[in-house]
Amino acid sequence: MGTVASTRDWLVHRLHLGPMLEKISHKEVPVHRYGVFYYLGGMTLFFFLVQVGTGILLMLYYRPSASEAYESVEFIVTAVPFGWLIRSLHSWSANLLVYFAFLHLASVYFLKAYRKPREVTWVSGVLLFFVILGFGFSGYLLPWNQLAFFATKVGTDIAGAVPVVGEWMVRFLRGGERVGGGTLSRFYGWHVAILPALTTVMLGLHLLLVQVHGMSVPPAAREEAKARRPMPFIPHFALRDLFGWALALGVLAALAALFPWELGEKADAFAPAYKDIKPEWYFMFMFQTLKLVPGGEIFGIEYEAFPILIFSLGGLAMLLVPFLDRGEAGSKSGAIATWIGVAAVIYMVVLTAWGYHSWVPVWIVLGTVVLLALLALATRRAER
Ligand code: HEM
Repeated sequence: MGTVASTRDWLVHRLHLGPMLEKISHKEVPVHRYGVFYYLGGMTLFFFLVQVGTGILLMLYYRPSASEAYESVEFIVTAVPFGWLIRSLHSWSANLLVYFAFLHLASVYFLKAYRKPREVTWVSGVLLFFVILGFGFSGYLLPWNQLAFFATKVGTDIAGAVPVVGEWMVRFLRGGERVGGGTLSRFYGWHVAILPALTTVMLGLHLLLVQVHGMSVPPAAREEAKARRPMPFIPHFALRDLFGWALALGVLAALAALFPWELGEKADAFAPAYKDIKPEWYFMFMFQTLKLVPGGEIFGIEYEAFPILIFSLGGLAMLLVPFLDRGEAGSKSGAIATWIGVAAVIYMVVLTAWGYHSWVPVWIVLGTVVLLALLALATRRAER
């Protein structure tokens, strides 16, 4: 036996990998017209791994203090070899990660993959999504530039409108009364320790459950999947996954190199309030909703508290989706869930476009839908 084979055998025995390898070698993926959506979770995983790799490299030079953060990022993008590229990759990939996590969430939602026995897979997924948004919110402040500073000020201020616990929440988020050096160290702690630890646990559980339950077949494709031979995961599906990752790497590298992420001006708490305060695009629909609410209060509760309450209930409902729609294929609760999902997506896209005074968000979403439909058609023919 060659050295490679004997080392492999040694590891398989010592780590007791036999049963796991056995399971993976027999894993199969159903083949049907919605098969393209099975690749979205893997894509999300790809962008997450890019974040881990580039984030660790950025940590080597970044300094989380109000007097040094901006300068350290400036140093990374001007003096460190390829530092500009690593920072640009981290920023672009962060945005693509949120977008793909959302596409993955939306596809498993509309295809009803959260139903029995995948309730916990769904809940761990929603928690992962919230953690990803937390990464985005905390990471935005780290370069300590004007845009981030004022957006964090406004963003954390919003928590203050929550009745009873609002003031405490603002202080908890900011690590003090105001956004300052304390906020920066706190956000850094969230970004590089607390959230990665939570992600490790949630992602481990999520991927384990996906292996345990296998891929679900959407109710609308049951007959079709029954009539077609499933695809072996190794090597057929895994190679297709890898092909997608190679494409994603190409697109990501091109974006990062051709449109390097801006740094802007250093944060100055005493500068007149920044005119064009913008949160990251994925918070825009909530920001725009709050902008439409007039100032004032009723029974001591600020008007702003009502949309905040609705968004919080929306988040909770998302977490509980598998328990709210327990229906079977073609059930009424399933149809209601679909229409609520469609309405929520339209609301988010319209308010985002309104927030930016631009049609770009609409084109991006329509472009994605067309691209996924074309991919679904193309792969359907190839696998017949
Ligand atoms: C870091 C974020 C995430 C990663 C890396 C991830 C990864 C994956 C992977 C690799 C799969 C198997 C392939 C696939 O169905 O696409 C999967 C399946 C699944 N994911 Fe995620 N996911 C993430 C977030 C989410 C979110 C936000 C949700 C929704 C709330 C979710 C819900 C599910 C469900 C229900 C399945 C099973 C799908 C089926 O059996 O058809 N995941 N995930």
